[in-house]
Amino acid sequence: MFQKDLFKNKIAIITGGGSGIGYEIAQQLLEYGASVWIASRNEEKLQKAQEKLSLIGDCKYISIDIRQPQRIEEAITIIKSQSKTIDILINNAGGQFRAAAEDITNKGWDAVIHNNLNGTWYMTQAISKAFFIPQNQGKIINIIAQIHRGFPGMIHTGAARAGVDNLTKTLAVEWSKYGIQVNAIAPGVIRTSGLDTYPDEVRQYTLEQVPKKIPAKRLGTAQEITALALFLASPLASYITGETIYADGGQRLWGDFWELP
Ligand SMILES: NC(=O)c1ccc[n+]([C@@H]2O[C@H](COP(=O)([O-])OP(=O)(O)OC[C@H]3O[C@@H](n4cnc5c(N)ncnc54)[C@H](OP(=O)(O)O)[C@@H]3O)[C@@H](O)[C@H]2O)c1
Repeated sequence: MFQKDLFKNKIAIITGGGSGIGYEIAQQLLEYGASVWIASRNEEKLQKAQEKLSLIGDCKYISIDIRQPQRIEEAITIIKSQSKTIDILINNAGGQFRAAAEDITNKGWDAVIHNNLNGTWYMTQAISKAFFIPQNQGKIINIIAQIHRGFPGMIHTGAARAGVDNLTKTLAVEWSKYGIQVNAIAPGVIRTSGLDTYPDEVRQYTLEQVPKKIPAKRLGTAQEITALALFLASPLASYITGETIYADGGQRLWGDFWELP
């Protein structure tokens, strides 16, 4: 699809790179010549992923909980000792659970906002201050979600992702002076390991019923999100910033995603 050496000499960090969409992005960046750091909480998972990814290219892992700024700083010190630059940040880590708005506790609300909004911001600011701003260049790609019509059934993640959508625009303007491009990808329903984090009934419904409600009549794939991430991370997208690109098979425009809880 792209030139084989498109990301030669580029170094990327991918949060949530040990599974699902993040793993696929890591794999493809490696295929096209980049060096890659995969980062998340579960070290065992990261280690297994890194073993497989290292067969393709230079892949390292680092344990980071994006909710913990102190841990992010410690990780940056380790990264700096091994990588002179970071060129690409893929903010992909995240998670949520399905619940009716009236049933969400403050604890549940805070947990999702903290992870998906605050965590993304902590990573973005820390990596930018450590690498992108002093380097005068950097690419930030935020993986959010299809939030075009709100997010009935998951109000917390809808609000968090809308926050990231908005900070994508603000940073694209504020940090253009540092040569930093900031864009986002809004995936529809993508068939990944992430589905396993939901209860059986939600998983089954997603696999069997949701495809009928999407104009494309199927779920998306991690490869389809990855193609967009690589495009945005490459010089092909050098004049695109502050943009959120939907990859959802038309789901934002038509069809009830699921019955309202
Ligand atoms: N699949 C979909 O249909 C879909 C649709 C829209 C948006 N998304 C979003 O796309 C991203 C990737 O999803 P996926 O489908 O590939 O699911 P996934 O395999 O569950 O990926 C989520 C990743 O985030 C990491 N993570 C979660 N919280 C973290 C934290 N506090 N600190 C560091 N890492 C953390 C997890 O690793 P650890 O457990 O090791 O921390 C995991 O690798 C997520 O943000 C997801 O919400 C997915």
